[in-house]
Amino acid sequence: MKKDSIFKKLTMGVCYYPEHWDEALWDSDLRRMKEAGIELVRIGEFAWTIFEPEEGVFSFDFFDRFIEAARRHGLRVILGTPTATPPAWASHDYPEILNADISGTLYRHGARRHYNYNSVKYLQLTREIVTQLTRHYGHNPVVAGWQIDNELNCELSEFYSESDTAAFRLFLRKKYGSLDALNRAWGAVFWNQTYTSWDQVFVPRHTINHTINPHQMLDYYRFISESACSYAKVQSDILRANISPDQFITTNGMFPNLDNHRMTRESLDFYTYDSYPDFAFQLTEDPLNSDTLGDRKWSRNLSETRCICPHFGIMEQQSGSPGWNTRMEAPAPKPGQMTLWTMQSIAHGADYVSYFRWRTSTMGTEIYWHGILDYCGKENRRLREVRQITQKFDAIRDIAGAMYRASFAFVKDYDNVWDSQLDVWVNRVNKASEKGWFNASQLTHTPMDYLYLQDGTTLDELLRYPLLVYPHAAILTQPRAELLRQYVEAGGKLILGCRTGYKSITGQCCMDPMPGPARDICGAEVEDFTFVGPADEPVHIVWEGTVLDGAVFNDILSPLDGAEVLGVFDSNYYQGKPGLIRKKLGKGEAYYFGAAFDSQAAAVFLKRLGLTEAFSAWVDAPSGCELAMREKEGKRWLFALNYGAHSEEIVLKVPMQEAFSGKVCTGTLTLPAYGTAVFLVPQL
Ligand code: GAL
Repeated sequence: MKKDSIFKKLTMGVCYYPEHWDEALWDSDLRRMKEAGIELVRIGEFAWTIFEPEEGVFSFDFFDRFIEAARRHGLRVILGTPTATPPAWASHDYPEILNADISGTLYRHGARRHYNYNSVKYLQLTREIVTQLTRHYGHNPVVAGWQIDNELNCELSEFYSESDTAAFRLFLRKKYGSLDALNRAWGAVFWNQTYTSWDQVFVPRHTINHTINPHQMLDYYRFISESACSYAKVQSDILRANISPDQFITTNGMFPNLDNHRMTRESLDFYTYDSYPDFAFQLTEDPLNSDTLGDRKWSRNLSETRCICPHFGIMEQQSGSPGWNTRMEAPAPKPGQMTLWTMQSIAHGADYVSYFRWRTSTMGTEIYWHGILDYCGKENRRLREVRQITQKFDAIRDIAGAMYRASFAFVKDYDNVWDSQLDVWVNRVNKASEKGWFNASQLTHTPMDYLYLQDGTTLDELLRYPLLVYPHAAILTQPRAELLRQYVEAGGKLILGCRTGYKSITGQCCMDPMPGPARDICGAEVEDFTFVGPADEPVHIVWEGTVLDGAVFNDILSPLDGAEVLGVFDSNYYQGKPGLIRKKLGKGEAYYFGAAFDSQAAAVFLKRLGLTEAFSAWVDAPSGCELAMREKEGKRWLFALNYGAHSEEIVLKVPMQEAFSGKVCTGTLTLPAYGTAVFLVPQL
């Protein structure tokens, strides 16, 4: 992965579907895009039949005309490989290319993403179309870069076709070598699942109560990720072989069951994310969907994107109200919100922002998924806002390549993400803590990075942060535990939470006392544990007089040699027993907290460790505003983002130039509703 940004300056783009409109509209559309400040147009990702109307018959005239028109208007394009939507002839003639649900029923033509990654025929068709496209456009200077497919694993991130079973068997044979090893890894002796021939092994299928073997499921998620990464690599290998080195390769995400780090490393020049913060305001009865942070929660997704790729792009930035004809009812973005969400993306590391989409479609599933322009295409407030955003871009163009400044990192890894998908209550613990830490980081202005532990993760990468929070790593391997120990010994602070270290890499439970390999690091052992049920009286952990919520699940602890008890439970049958233990190790210290972390608990940790209000030398802001900083070559851009429908006051402690207005400001400043400001921070 290239560390520097592909973009030399902050760049704006838009998604356009020339095939949806009369060609007579292209010229005025392109002219108006250019006028509005747009430089790149993403095209083609759903247009396979236009490129290949019949198997083996290729036609480039249509897109040649569009790309030439773009050139005339001084625009360049990002060309999508069109594999997210197989042509009707392919779906019809080769049903083996189709994905199936868990009962084996095929997903038929009529929507999108109905193919599977492992069909030999689909791979052949993919290679052919990508080869033809790259031969034709691989040296066209108007093509700035390529988007592989569209949103791999979106809509469906599980695959149950016959091709998938065949590929799953190969994956397992390579991984385990023998059925004995597979049976051991899957604990197949339990409920007599032992396999005696590879033909008996399938991707998960319809079972009683959906109680699929959890170890099989964990390997299945790994297999899906492997399939998606390999599919992206099939395309990127062809792209690399045929395109000019000036053209970049990307794809847009981010979706489940996919190791995005690996895919980016193997196949991309940079990663792009599709950001739709208006989802926060949709009509929903699902309480899990409601979040006190609303659209500000997208900063979490952007932070996760940043850990995949420090300088990323937004391939689709929301510009209108969302809604398929089958889902989603949400208000149109208010005046200012498009700017706010754009600045949110940039504050978190985006160097490219492309709006979805230029015009709202008059046909198909997305007639209610609004773009910048409405059906009629006449001038409107959203296009006016794009022009204003371009002026703001002009004031901060050189931010491209600047690094986000974080005060601590929240640690994750794919094994635990995938293992906990099936573990209902572990998932609950994880979700509570991820939300708790992120909300605390936002509300106390303590910027947070994500860090995914991977095989190649180095101690130096960990030591970039004074604090790591790795809340509930059920699967904790010896090498990962060792890395964490070295981090602490070298001076890092580590916070672990309940349910750490009790599973092996296969997802089976270990017989060592919990938290397994983390015991020696944090000096705690779990004596007893319980889910906190709805009928239980609320449990707290009292830490030097401060009452923290003992949320969701409790590990009742005892200290090992050299560790100190910092907090005790205040109720239930374990009242008075340790709930928070700390051990000093080498130059650092490790904490074990016997619960999930809500945002108040996380905020107390951040405060006691001296990390909150990271920008207080320059600005004080209410919790309703997000503060974020990017820095490069001694230059620092400090973003203040007001997500609220009311104005907020911030106080500048030193005179700073506000980039958009060019004015030097100091003292109290009002950010209007949905208002954004970027300050150029002087050296202290
Ligand atoms: C994205 C997708 C676009 C469009 C958009 C709005 O997920 O990449 O093609 O569907 O959502 O639904």
